[in-house]
Amino acid sequence: ETVEWEAASYDMGGHDTYMHKEISEQPDAVDRVLRGRIDDRFSTVHLGGLNLDPREARGIRRVKILGCGTSYHAGLIGASLIEGMARIPADAEPASEFRYRNPVVDPDTLYIAVSQSGETYDVLAAVQELKRKGARVLGVVNVVGSAIAREADGGVYVHAGPEVCVVSTKCFTNTVVAFALLAVHLGRIRDLSVTDGKRIIEGLRRLPAQIEEILKGEEDIKELAAQYADAKSMMFIGRVRGYPVALEASLKLKEISYIHAEAYPASELKHGPLALIEPAMPTVAIVPDDDLLEKNRAALEEIKARSGRILAVAHREQEKADHTIIVPKNEDELDPILMGIPLQLLAYHTALALGRDIDKPRNLAKSVTVE
Ligand code: G6P
Repeated sequence: ETVEWEAASYDMGGHDTYMHKEISEQPDAVDRVLRGRIDDRFSTVHLGGLNLDPREARGIRRVKILGCGTSYHAGLIGASLIEGMARIPADAEPASEFRYRNPVVDPDTLYIAVSQSGETYDVLAAVQELKRKGARVLGVVNVVGSAIAREADGGVYVHAGPEVCVVSTKCFTNTVVAFALLAVHLGRIRDLSVTDGKRIIEGLRRLPAQIEEILKGEEDIKELAAQYADAKSMMFIGRVRGYPVALEASLKLKEISYIHAEAYPASELKHGPLALIEPAMPTVAIVPDDDLLEKNRAALEEIKARSGRILAVAHREQEKADHTIIVPKNEDELDPILMGIPLQLLAYHTALALGRDIDKPRNLAKSVTVE
């Protein structure tokens, strides 16, 4: 059973697909999730619906994020933002896995359910099980008043606006930005300095214009997509912050183009997947200019030595790569948000080149409200 969106009530605004419209809306969407929430005086973030007072926020010993599909991937980035800024151990897990392994439910853990629709059954069931056991659960949800939003003790609305295309783009981006806001909020109650709070806030403010700049490169990405669309299979690699970006980009490609794709941490290549590398299996590599740049370059060399084709997403030209998509630099913590965007366009144009039904990929539903 699926939730049917009333597609007719949403104007495509001159775009050929909802996916393209939704990718293009990201600068405005990010602007919306930030609006009214930044407090420059204390270099922090106010989140009206959180229902978590500072004393409670200081008592959190662990954060566990639950979601499915793209929302799970946004949760992985969310966990690293919270752990990095608030210095609380945090991780993300698919909601269904969590539900069926009889997890230890700990009163000092803050649980966060992530969902675009707010109706995904596996996530809702996890929330209900947690609530029944007395846990505190927040929602990071797009659809206002949805089941998960109602069931949670509080949360952050993602304000991406209606998303019609089955695969999520603008909501993914906005969810990650919402997690960055939550991370600054929790961080500033705990150990994040004023200077770092300010640094991240300023970085967040730069995002809409930087996304705009990335979207201007669409024609180039379209040409690249034409060159890679013949691949039977693609590898996506990233390291630490880059790994969830690789996971999400690979999911996007398989969902709409039906090209098989795998995502691996770059460091795991040598433990198996390197055996797959050959000219017919191109690699998309996430290569930010951060403290892991040299490590990432070494991975590109390993691939090149096996005659693998490489498409890098980076802050500057990568000589080992056959092609580089250059994205603007933000703060290291926020770079994953920007690096994901050209890869949405890559998946889109690959699917378009292959003549796929982009807004309604086969076998998939926007919202899975059954088990
Ligand atoms: C479905 C969709 C995915 C989505 C997932 C979670 O599987 O096809 O695109 O990421 O559900 O949806 P949610 O609404 O909970 O974010």
